[in-house]
Amino acid sequence: MGEKRQFKVWRGDETGGDLQDYQVEVNEGEVVLDIIHRLQATEAPDLACRWNCKAGKCGSCSMEINGMPRLGCMTRMSTFSETETITVTPLRTFPVIRDLVTDVSFNYEKARETPAFAPPVGVAPGEYRMQQVDVERSQEFRKCIECFLCQNTCHVVRDHDENKNAFSGPRYFIRAAELDMHPLDAREDRKTYAQQHQGLGYCNITKCCTEVCPEHIKITDNAIIPMKERVVDRKYDPLVWLGSKIFRRHPDDDELVQSGSSHAVSAGPAMTGVDLPDAHERTEEQEVERGVNWHRRVGPAQLPAVGANGRLGVSEAAFDRSGAASPFGDDVEFPLPPRDLNYAHPDQD
Ligand code: SF4
Ligand code: SF4
Ligand code: FES
Repeated sequence: MGEKRQFKVWRGDETGGDLQDYQVEVNEGEVVLDIIHRLQATEAPDLACRWNCKAGKCGSCSMEINGMPRLGCMTRMSTFSETETITVTPLRTFPVIRDLVTDVSFNYEKARETPAFAPPVGVAPGEYRMQQVDVERSQEFRKCIECFLCQNTCHVVRDHDENKNAFSGPRYFIRAAELDMHPLDAREDRKTYAQQHQGLGYCNITKCCTEVCPEHIKITDNAIIPMKERVVDRKYDPLVWLGSKIFRRHPDDDELVQSGSSHAVSAGPAMTGVDLPDAHERTEEQEVERGVNWHRRVGPAQLPAVGANGRLGVSEAAFDRSGAASPFGDDVEFPLPPRDLNYAHPDQD
């Protein structure tokens, strides 16, 4: 039987809540998520908390522990002194659903907006070849478990909801960097996209995101700063500027009208010289014509059926499949038509 330790856990929902005191047994080797589970098994059976793997790999159990964004399953109780009161609160940047569960859909919206990997034209899947050094460079970014601790920590959105529209956040800067550094990615406008649409310029490289990353990804040093340097190289290079004056073309024009380049991703018509509207202002038809639809229609995610009390109903238990309903909806046929994808392979019918 372990000792009882003092905890404060935030309880409430979108209408409000407060910290509640609990005394919970703690045993050797336990982590904070064990304590949350013990609370659920004893005096707080309706305490809401998201978790899946309890191994630091699913990214579900993100919470703030003594004010620090952490994974509950990777925070050992032995890191706190025995007399310390441990305070557990939900992620502050995202709206609370209930107790420790927040609505992180902001991140999925930003993920949907990010153009996917664009394979090179004329190279069949299975024939892609890369140098090991290039594999290793992006491998670091692929370790991301999408815990969104970095997103939660970033001061650009933490207390500034109004910035969320224009700022994708560090998790999506590493995605942009990964694709920009990918030798087989055929898109040439990753830098422009990061600067103009992901809000890379809002980041003032405080490195707070790097500090909280449980996968120890060097978000700032290896992704954000190189991306900023690439943007500057492209946009402010005096020779490129001089060339743009002589030939009356801006470097970004080339990137945004890539369908006219020899590395064209799209089989669409050449658009060099066309005054393209900002990517967020293009119509869906214009996007589909380019072969890249950043604003494809995605059906709303289907939530499991919960009652007014926030609990799963009997229908969920009686569901004929073991998992939840498909987020695409049950009436969708695959393959999806190209206009519903954010990238259509050039060889795709
Ligand atoms: S380095 Fe940039 S992205 Fe990371 S927390 Fe600071 S401002 Fe946000
Ligand atoms: S970059 Fe790190 S902190 Fe951010 S979502 Fe991925 S694993 Fe989590
Ligand atoms: S439960 Fe999966 S990361 Fe914590």
